[in-house]
Amino acid sequence: MKTVACVVGARPNFMKVAPILRQIEASSGLDAWLIHTGQHYDNNLSGQFFRDLEIGAPEDDLGVGSGSHAVQTARVMTALDSLFDQRTPDVVLVVGDVNSTLAAALVASKRQIPVIHVEAGLRSFDRTMPEEINRILTDRVSDLLFVTEQSGVENLRDEGIAEDRAHLVGNVMIDSLFHARSGAIPAHETIARAGENDDPPERFALLTLHRPSNVDSPEVFGPLLDALNEISKSLPIVFPVHPRTRAALDRHGLTGADGEPGILMTEPVSYFEMVGLLHDAALVLTDSGGLQEESSALGIPCLTLRENTERPVTVSHGTNVVVGNTPDAVRAAFARFTAGDHATGSIPPLWDGRAAERIVRVIENWI
Ligand code: UD1
Repeated sequence: MKTVACVVGARPNFMKVAPILRQIEASSGLDAWLIHTGQHYDNNLSGQFFRDLEIGAPEDDLGVGSGSHAVQTARVMTALDSLFDQRTPDVVLVVGDVNSTLAAALVASKRQIPVIHVEAGLRSFDRTMPEEINRILTDRVSDLLFVTEQSGVENLRDEGIAEDRAHLVGNVMIDSLFHARSGAIPAHETIARAGENDDPPERFALLTLHRPSNVDSPEVFGPLLDALNEISKSLPIVFPVHPRTRAALDRHGLTGADGEPGILMTEPVSYFEMVGLLHDAALVLTDSGGLQEESSALGIPCLTLRENTERPVTVSHGTNVVVGNTPDAVRAAFARFTAGDHATGSIPPLWDGRAAERIVRVIENWI
């Protein structure tokens, strides 16, 4: 039996690998070896997701933790290299675009272990984003590339990656979303618990922010929060706060509008809580890649608080509008939403909950 080492590290990786692990388990010819780099280690960014997604405990946890990009990437590389000294997999599978993704792809390719990249080809064309560097380099050293949308196929072709290596298969994030819907925790329960309020608002917007470009500088983050605070006076906002964002708020001395009427800040929520919040939200405001996709798949209007997206199908087919992160742009986009001027959207092609099935079929034939 061939061993596929699946290397994951950060929260969005876990939803992407879960359906692949389930499918590999159901397949006769493959054996999955789950390795957690430990990039994310808090229970509410990691352990709780393993439980909600029914992923068994990783066989190996490299425990690399936080650090600068170079330090974190190097730690994953060193630890994984030692692990592969003891046991060498037949292939290495990585998902998404976090530092752990690139680090694992580099270690494997230098050891001549074939690399499979799931969620290949996405490009924001913005190299100030660390994930863009991770995406470009991971794709460059990958042998088999699975793509979520047509733009990805075109980007890989434009970068000279052989077309027979790339497969448009749909989106494993959406496989997980559809799988989790039955277990979703209704939003009013999460909001009531977080707000210690027995009578939470029924209509609300869901906000997440964690990109360095939004939260690292107080000159950007402060005015953005002011605009969001204004919005929350007409549509209450629920804001699960990522640890990076929490640290930025503390560092800059910003309150994050907590306690202001309308913005409810919470700790990061579990996957089942997030799926429930998303499902019941009137609007999503975010800088996350995953939430742009999930809101498109559920038909919930989404305003992306960034200058670009590497997921253009969420705009052309889905419900996403790329707004930017200046207060005026955010206010204007919210005014358009309030006036009813928002695309209803359709689910992008192949986002049908069966991407992992297609992926594992291709891997079995290829291996
Ligand atoms: C990482 C990914 C990003 C992804 C995000 C999802 C990279 C370059 N970035 O960003 O693409 O969208 O995960 O969450 O890989 N921290 C904790 N507990 C943890 C992990 C992190 O408190 O379990 C704090 C630490 O202060 C840490 C900071 O969050 O320094 C940032 O963590 P890191 O893994 O470097 O990047 P993310 O911002 O989470």
